[in-house]
Amino acid sequence: MKKEIKIKPFWYSDIWLFPKLITIITTLDKEGNVNAGPYSHIMQYDVMTKNPRMIVGFRQDSHSFVNICDTGEFVINCPSASHLDDMMETAKFYPEGVNELEFTKFTQIPSLKVKPPSLKECPQIAECTVDEIVKLEKSTGIVIATIQAIVVDEELETMGREERIRTMNLPIGMGDEARQDYYHATVGELTKHRLGQPKNAMQGADAVTNMEWDKEAMKMLMNVPPPLRKMVIQSTEEHAVEKKEVVVTSKVFTELAKSVGMDPEVMERFRSGG
Ligand SMILES: Cc1cc2nc3c(=O)[nH]c(=O)nc-3n(C[C@H](O)[C@H](O)[C@H](O)COP(=O)(O)O)c2cc1C
Repeated sequence: MKKEIKIKPFWYSDIWLFPKLITIITTLDKEGNVNAGPYSHIMQYDVMTKNPRMIVGFRQDSHSFVNICDTGEFVINCPSASHLDDMMETAKFYPEGVNELEFTKFTQIPSLKVKPPSLKECPQIAECTVDEIVKLEKSTGIVIATIQAIVVDEELETMGREERIRTMNLPIGMGDEARQDYYHATVGELTKHRLGQPKNAMQGADAVTNMEWDKEAMKMLMNVPPPLRKMVIQSTEEHAVEKKEVVVTSKVFTELAKSVGMDPEVMERFRSGG
């Protein structure tokens, strides 16, 4: 049997489970004082390399939000599960101007591209500058920001995902009870699922073109995953017509790919399946 639940304030936490990323956001106030607070309402936004962004949701009267509105900069630090106590310390309602980090074991280090500090103990860090702020009426402040730098512990870069997941040991936020007791999970059992292709996936030979494609452009098309080829053929041919080209060349293909943020690095990632 299912039961409809009355939707009340804090529904997202009282009844609904949202396993979440735990981050500590560091900012500076107008006077240059450091502030830190945990934030989970955070997602990757533009995922192409052309415009890598994050979207973050804040209580509008939080110190972090006010500082971000004033200075336009912040750092997203992801602590490992071994720092959950310190993370919770930064959640306490300290008065304005107090640096919560002084009550923790976190070490502040200079960031590469922005003024607020980064946290040394956090294995993954994103330095951000604000693009747009949306203040929802009587609700959240949404910040859309460009990632200026992604900084990770050196040894993580060459690890496979499974080893990296275990080494970073990022906690999973499981929500609170009455805004007093916060639950967190850690990575225990890890499962892996391979995506694969659907049974009726478009095969290389099924890529029907309506214009002439030169050899080089066709080679590039074959690097696109089969399910995406139909869409890529259509947009590339439209682009060629717009440019008054009668043959789709590698130049047309690359131009269009670039305009949607698919630089050669991304294309290589598609090709290699990496
Ligand atoms: C794990 C965790 C995640 C949180 N995520 C958010 C969030 O995404 N948005 C928000 O407004 N508050 C969130 N909070 C509450 C703020 O961290 C809390 O209000 C804090 O005191 C704000 O600090 P500040 O005023 O220094 O920014 C979260 C708290 C915890 C413990």
